[in-house]
Amino acid sequence: MRTEQSKTIYLKDYQVPDYLIDETHLTFELFEDHSLVHAQLVMRRNPEAGAGLPKLVLDGQQLELLELKLDDRELGEGDYSLTDSHLSLQPTQDRFVVDSSVRIHPESNTALEGLYKSGTMFCTQCEAEGFRKITFYLDRPDVMSKFTTTVSAEQHAYPVLLSNGNPIASGGEEGGRHWATWEDPFKKPAYLFALVAGDLWCVEDSFTTMSSREVALRIYVEPENIDKVQHAMDSLKRSMKWDEEVYGREYDLDIFMIVAVNDFNMGAMENKGLNIFNSSCVLAKAETATDAAHQRVEAVVAHEYFHNWSGNRVTCRDWFQLSLKEGFTVFRDSEFSADTHSRTVKRIEDVAYLRTHQFAEDAGPMAHPVRPDAYMEISNFYTLTIYEKGSEVLRMIHTLLGPELFRKGSDLYFERHDGQAVTCDDFVKAMEDASGQDLTQFKRWYTQAGTPRLEVSEAYDAAAQTYSLSFRQSCPATPGQSEKLPFVIPVALGLLDAQGNELALRLQGESAAQGTSRVLSVTEAEQTFIFEGITAKPLPSLLRGFSAPVKLHFPYDRDQLMFLMQHDSDGFNRWEAGQQLSVQVLQELIGQHQRGEALVLDQRLVTALRTLLEDESLDQAMVAEMLSLPGEAYLTEISEVADVEAIHAAREFARKELAAALFAPLWARYQANRETSKTTPYVAEAAHFARRSLQNIALSYLMLSEKPEVLVACVDQFENADNMTERLAALAVLVNSPFQAEQGKALAMFADFFKDNPLVMDQWFSVQAGCPLPGGLERVHALMQHEAFTLKNPNKVRALIGAFANQNLINFHRADGAGYRFLADQVITLNALNPQIASRLLAPLTRWRKYGSARQALMKAELERILASGELSSDVYEVVSKSLA
Ligand code: TRP
Ligand code: ZN
Repeated sequence: MRTEQSKTIYLKDYQVPDYLIDETHLTFELFEDHSLVHAQLVMRRNPEAGAGLPKLVLDGQQLELLELKLDDRELGEGDYSLTDSHLSLQPTQDRFVVDSSVRIHPESNTALEGLYKSGTMFCTQCEAEGFRKITFYLDRPDVMSKFTTTVSAEQHAYPVLLSNGNPIASGGEEGGRHWATWEDPFKKPAYLFALVAGDLWCVEDSFTTMSSREVALRIYVEPENIDKVQHAMDSLKRSMKWDEEVYGREYDLDIFMIVAVNDFNMGAMENKGLNIFNSSCVLAKAETATDAAHQRVEAVVAHEYFHNWSGNRVTCRDWFQLSLKEGFTVFRDSEFSADTHSRTVKRIEDVAYLRTHQFAEDAGPMAHPVRPDAYMEISNFYTLTIYEKGSEVLRMIHTLLGPELFRKGSDLYFERHDGQAVTCDDFVKAMEDASGQDLTQFKRWYTQAGTPRLEVSEAYDAAAQTYSLSFRQSCPATPGQSEKLPFVIPVALGLLDAQGNELALRLQGESAAQGTSRVLSVTEAEQTFIFEGITAKPLPSLLRGFSAPVKLHFPYDRDQLMFLMQHDSDGFNRWEAGQQLSVQVLQELIGQHQRGEALVLDQRLVTALRTLLEDESLDQAMVAEMLSLPGEAYLTEISEVADVEAIHAAREFARKELAAALFAPLWARYQANRETSKTTPYVAEAAHFARRSLQNIALSYLMLSEKPEVLVACVDQFENADNMTERLAALAVLVNSPFQAEQGKALAMFADFFKDNPLVMDQWFSVQAGCPLPGGLERVHALMQHEAFTLKNPNKVRALIGAFANQNLINFHRADGAGYRFLADQVITLNALNPQIASRLLAPLTRWRKYGSARQALMKAELERILASGELSSDVYEVVSKSLA
């Protein structure tokens, strides 16, 4: 619960540590009703911290101190002081050794931070500040130490004992116990420490690095999951190869281990040499995991592996620099996925996610810069802004410098800072030094929050044959920041003539054209670029590949958008034109609904989608992406005041109209793809993802017709598919349909067949939690009583409650506020069990400013109720208080 810790911490107050820890020797004795941790810290005064010997203040929470020694001298109560968060003592010389013994209770740790039990196994999660719940320490990332760890446990229940680095010794003890010692030769901050003890099986493989070193690769899972690790292993080997080829980065230890655990607050953790993963991000095989899950496993394996350089070898000086490792590593893993599958589809998925969720965060009460300057609880800052917007900032540097100079910059960064804890400024400096470019103004992306708005207007001068584009940028106020200075906005663009050909681009003052697609740097609040030698008014294709995380506005009409959908050479912008067309059409329907008029769908959307569906030469994944109308959450984000009912009604109406008008081509594409699926073994590759995604989105439209032949096809796909992608899609379609009998039967069959597979049951919960039909809240209530559900498992909370509050907007935002009351109740319960999960779960309530006054009042009342509910964790307190402020 809240301690003196929940004060606000400021970047400007950063000071180097008074003391350093050269060596850390840990011994863990694990028992069923408690565990003992002995720590020997070999310390010295930090020469950079000035003269004298200040008090040594160690972090420590929920630790029962049993013994404390300074240089072998036992300290009594008068020799130290102890609060609920710190242990202070007075060193008497520059170099000294602190020995402590503490008792902790992993067996009752439901916060899943520090040392805890997941099922029968022991595991750890130390980032960001979990190590202080294991032992007294300088728990900050700029204190880096060499760790040796001995783990002792009962042999039968915990045959596998793991920690970071290399195993150096092991043996038996009396009483059926055994021990193992691990040594990590690399200095690391405590947040990268890990320990695992359990009854685990492993799949073993090896990788030969570019300098011909053999690395042993091991993925540890509970025995029943041993058949679901091959995909993660293949992904790991592809990641290791990619990082060598694209960044010149080689793995550095002789062994790399991944352990899958069922109870985990996030996706995975990059502990040195011993990554610990949420089992949802490791386990995947065709029968139990969807295509999306396969891609997530691959991306998270890559992400955590890439952290070995971007995070571990070069780490963060303090937690304000979190995006230094997270933004960079997300950029690296997204490029890996783009290179491995379809670049355009990956970009579409990432941008759709960013614009729906990160833009909402950036417009809400928790908005913060990519490098925040204050926080109360650092766990609350593992946000979409740090990760996804941070990745966009790196992508813009890549765009501005080009791939060669960017690589020169990353080489310099890794070389210059290997073994150090550094800042975002250090990263940018390496990019500047390697490229010779000045990124001073660009760095505003790190310090100013909010999503910039970029308005573009055009002017054509037929006599002068010039075409000019004028840009006007602005950025809304965010908490603590009212005035914003202009950003550097890289705008990739092209110009199309009336036939859809790309024009050669020559700016005023240039002697020759420079290609047909180029990047303009918009650096001023208002700025005009003039293209010369333009013989007829062109149509601009702006912000190609989404070259900057901004809200672009250009007054396209619907015919122009249809033209871009067909002719733009940039695949991302073809999709984007389709999205903008859909948004215009849907907003028109929303207006009709609000005025009580009959809804009338603009037939141009039908025509545009028909053209795509009938063109078999197009990438099927692209067709599927184009068929997916903008989601309700995105329509909410771009509304001034979101009208929940109108948004839902408009989108459902459009889907039904499209389904009716396009029944024949949808049915043809569905049947062709389903036939191929029946005769093709499951492969986790782009072309197969593409086929299944078009098949499944077609099925979801077709079912809206309620035709018996579609129902038969859907039930057949549900019952006979040999993979989870087809089976789950069919189940979701049934659940959202009016066919009660078939739906009940399918849900029961599915639950019976997969009852022993918690990850599959998560999917079963999510599909029902997301169903927009009336009675959603009652269904969620009932599902919470299901024997497979528990509030103690974060995956279950996300699958049921999270999916309901984030994806089932029409039910969550029920006009009577019952959805809000339900969510607040769960937050209050979870606050005591798992503060990190409680605080994440409450995000939808913090968006109250988006809604009409009646909903605003109901949402605020629930936030007030949480605030008054008793002793709040710093996690929940920070989010609730900031969102009411
Ligand atoms: N560093 C982890 C990553 O790769 C994030 C993470 C994992 C985390 N577990 C956590 C952050 C628990 C906070 C709390 O993204
Ligand atoms: Zn990460």
